[in-house]
Amino acid sequence: MDRLSTILSESLETLKTLLTMHDLDQCRAKYIGKSGLITALMQELKNLPIDEKKEFGAKVNQIKAQFEQAWFNQKELILAKELENKLNNESIDVTLSGRNSALGSLHPISITLSKMLNIFSGLGFDIADGPEIETDYYNFKALNIPDHHPARAMQDTFYTETSNVLRTHTSPIQIRYAQKHKPPIKVIAPGRVYRVDMDATHSPMFHQLEGLWIDKGINFANLKGVIIHFLRLFFANDDLQVRFRASFFPFTEPSAEVDILSKNGKWLEILGCGMVHPNVLRNMGIDSEEYSGFAFGMGIDRFAMLKYNINDLRLMFENDLDFLRQFQGMSGALL
Ligand code: PHE
Repeated sequence: MDRLSTILSESLETLKTLLTMHDLDQCRAKYIGKSGLITALMQELKNLPIDEKKEFGAKVNQIKAQFEQAWFNQKELILAKELENKLNNESIDVTLSGRNSALGSLHPISITLSKMLNIFSGLGFDIADGPEIETDYYNFKALNIPDHHPARAMQDTFYTETSNVLRTHTSPIQIRYAQKHKPPIKVIAPGRVYRVDMDATHSPMFHQLEGLWIDKGINFANLKGVIIHFLRLFFANDDLQVRFRASFFPFTEPSAEVDILSKNGKWLEILGCGMVHPNVLRNMGIDSEEYSGFAFGMGIDRFAMLKYNINDLRLMFENDLDFLRQFQGMSGALL
């Protein structure tokens, strides 16, 4: 019985000094584990005479229970201390100053487009939109592009399984808009267009901006005036040299391609335009005896490349942050 009391008091003294769960677990094993000191006492029971067995057994059970209670209390203590330490060490200093989040930048195509929208809004143009998946009618037929025209060849156009097309230009928006609005019509339409093409200056998806102005008495001089005004504002150069070169589009007659003179003395082709073809006016539901108009279409990506000296169109679509960061702080403002 003395031995029992000694083991108990010893174990309780030890428990009080323990500070980690690791030590606590080892102590538990030492006393009540498989070959623990208190467990061993239980096994001595069978060697005792019957009359001592009862008293001894009860005492051992009592010691075991006392040990377990003390062990549990010490565990609570250790866990509370650990929590307290954690709270002290990980506390948040709400008086520290904050970290700035980095400022993003507009994409060069967005910057270019908003410059264009600014200029044409200033000239009184509305802005229209249209579907990127078009019917053959709006993308081709209504624009006076006959069935066998080369622009329809499979290598240029993405067809859907249901014989629609990914629009190859923004010109179908002209028809859609004019069918819904009566002249005077004065509208621009930016958007994504698609062609089967891919190299340093071509991408299967690119952006165009379409323009359409229909009213009584609109003529080629109006077209030239608007285009030259736009180009000089866009490139921020009042003396920009602009050349109209006769060309062909099925939906305009006469048609022209427009070149600008670059700094190194080369003429660069930059947009297509012309007077809206009478067949197209008819498809729009507009009387070509009473009204006339002009249309133009330009590549937004190409304008961005010229404006910002970008030599590979693919850079626009690779999401390279070093490339994009160069446009930090730029906006669609004209100056
Ligand atoms: N749709 C023509 C193209 O994609 C551009 C254009 C638009 C030409 C309007 C004339 C008038 O090349």
